Amino acid sequence: MGSTGSPTLNSSSVEEVLARLFSAASLEDPQAKELVKTREAELGRRLGQAERYELYGEAPLAITPEVGRLLYALCLATRAGTIVEFGCSMAISTIHLAAALRDADNGGSVITTEILPAKAQSARQNLVDARLDDLVELRVGDAIDTLADLEGPVDFLFLDGRNDLYLTVLQLMAPRLAASAVVAADLSADDPDLHPYLEHVRDRRHGYLSTLIPLNDGVELSVRVPAR
Ligand SMILES: C[S@@+](CC[C@H](N)C(=O)[O-])C[C@H]1O[C@@H](n2cnc3c(N)ncnc32)[C@H](O)[C@@H]1O
Repeated sequence: MGSTGSPTLNSSSVEEVLARLFSAASLEDPQAKELVKTREAELGRRLGQAERYELYGEAPLAITPEVGRLLYALCLATRAGTIVEFGCSMAISTIHLAAALRDADNGGSVITTEILPAKAQSARQNLVDARLDDLVELRVGDAIDTLADLEGPVDFLFLDGRNDLYLTVLQLMAPRLAASAVVAADLSADDPDLHPYLEHVRDRRHGYLSTLIPLNDGVELSVRVPAR
């Protein structure tokens, strides 16, 4: 727990930063998603991930507060020490992960990655404001490169970057996942780009026990288990 005995998530510094970030996201994210919808209607087809991200610009594309609390609870309950995140953005999810690490108080770090330098700069400042920057290593660049040399074992992996890269990032991390590692993937409603990932983790032969948590657009929760 934080120095006051209450969870770090309820500390004034974290609450203030999250309130500001969630408020900005509640304005910017619907606008960014509307741009994609309008463009898709004009073109009469679904946009690919690269096209979508071009229109999203620097919108936060944030998790919801409920998903944030789920991440915090899962990391605290499992006492995850090495936490890896794909898709930092403004660091809303990173703050929840780092708060759990602070409260578990058994060392470790969050390694997160963000491809857009401007977003990474804002994320760094937000982590400083939340007083959690000492627990986070932010790697700027494409996760495929920035996570390539990461040392395991990884206890908790949060996937929240480009949907069509979830499976690639999982497969990159798989050799470094701890036994019983937890993988949480934030989903988007009806996105065919997620199908390869979901088919992979839901097939027991790949070594995960996986279930959908119906929060917001869904979170796929997968636990590493011995393959049958
Ligand atoms: C959905 S947002 C993440 C939101 C964040 N987890 C939160 O809740 O605060 C996805 C982020 O992933 C970043 N991203 C997309 N492709 C990436 C890649 N290949 N490597 C690293 N980051 C990437 C985007 O720039 C964007 O900021």
